[in-house]
Amino acid sequence: MPLSLWICCSFALLCTALRAQAPQNAALAGGAAPVAPIAATNPFSSEADIQQGSALFQAHCAVCHGATGEGGRGADLTAGLYRRGGRDPELYASIRFGIPGTDMAPVRVTDDAVWKLVAFVKRLGSQGLREKAPGDPIAGRQVFQTMSCVVCHSVAKEGGTLGPDLTDVGRRRGLKFLAESLAKPEADIPIAYRAVEVVLKSGATVSGIRLNRDDLSIQLRDPGDNFRSFLMANVKEIRYDKPALMPSYAALDPKDFTDVIAYLNSLKGAP
Ligand code: HEC
Ligand code: HEC
Repeated sequence: MPLSLWICCSFALLCTALRAQAPQNAALAGGAAPVAPIAATNPFSSEADIQQGSALFQAHCAVCHGATGEGGRGADLTAGLYRRGGRDPELYASIRFGIPGTDMAPVRVTDDAVWKLVAFVKRLGSQGLREKAPGDPIAGRQVFQTMSCVVCHSVAKEGGTLGPDLTDVGRRRGLKFLAESLAKPEADIPIAYRAVEVVLKSGATVSGIRLNRDDLSIQLRDPGDNFRSFLMANVKEIRYDKPALMPSYAALDPKDFTDVIAYLNSLKGAP
């Protein structure tokens, strides 16, 4: 065949081959364009699906989002507020395709499993909404003030900052979690509140909540709410996973305990 015809033919073949690959490449690149349209409502949201979603979450997501979704390297998934959208198809897209330009990569599981993860993520964001606490929230508010919970916790911008803000804790956390936070604070420490103990070469020991650590320095907030920074050159040892900074309230009067839980459960946040 003449050379010009040969070039033409090869070019056409090459074009066909490239076009056949194009959609696949777009999907591989994790682009926002899904191959099939995403269902408007989650087809997998039964209680059994949520349980399976929970197991999938522990296996694929907890490393970044924390065992109870409290966040860490990944976003906090307990607040029920999503920067990338909280409707079923939006959550599906965040999980199926990942979030380009961030640590959040596409998850390698089946489409059905992604829907089960969506169901579980929604459950994480509304733990307390379906529950009604038995105690008296008004009396519990009093306990909260007198037991000096406010020294470490803020509600509606009032109070300390050593512990998590509790303004919407009644939505984020179920009753079981709340009771455990009070009785056994060390059981479930959110990643962001890991206590740390820094032993300096001078012999001094400073404990607090780890804020940041890089090759050169470590920063923490001490129990007096002071920001402290230490050069690694002066640090002898860093001990993680010290017991929780929050004292246990297991010995609290049982009525006070039930009431303060009812108060926490009543805190559903601003929106
Ligand atoms: C390597 C760490 C990492 C893993 C593993 C990971 N994520 Fe993420 N995820 C992130 C980060 C970081 C963000 C925040 C991205 C941003 O918006 O900047 C995020 C965001 C999200 C969002 C969007 C939150 C919002 O505000 O819109 C959802 C939903 C989510 N992740 C669910 C999951 C689920 C479910 C899994 C497991 C299949 C998972 N992630 C695995 C790091 C991770
Ligand atoms: C010395 C400071 C301190 C005091 C006092 C304190 N807390 Fe805490 N609290 C923390 C810290 C730090 C955390 C996060 C780490 C952990 O779970 O131990 C926390 C966690 C919690 C959580 C879980 C919040 C979440 O979003 O997961 C609840 C609920 C809570 N505290 C309630 C209380 C109540 C109620 C009191 C008073 C009876 C109280 N705290 C007193 C420091 C404190």
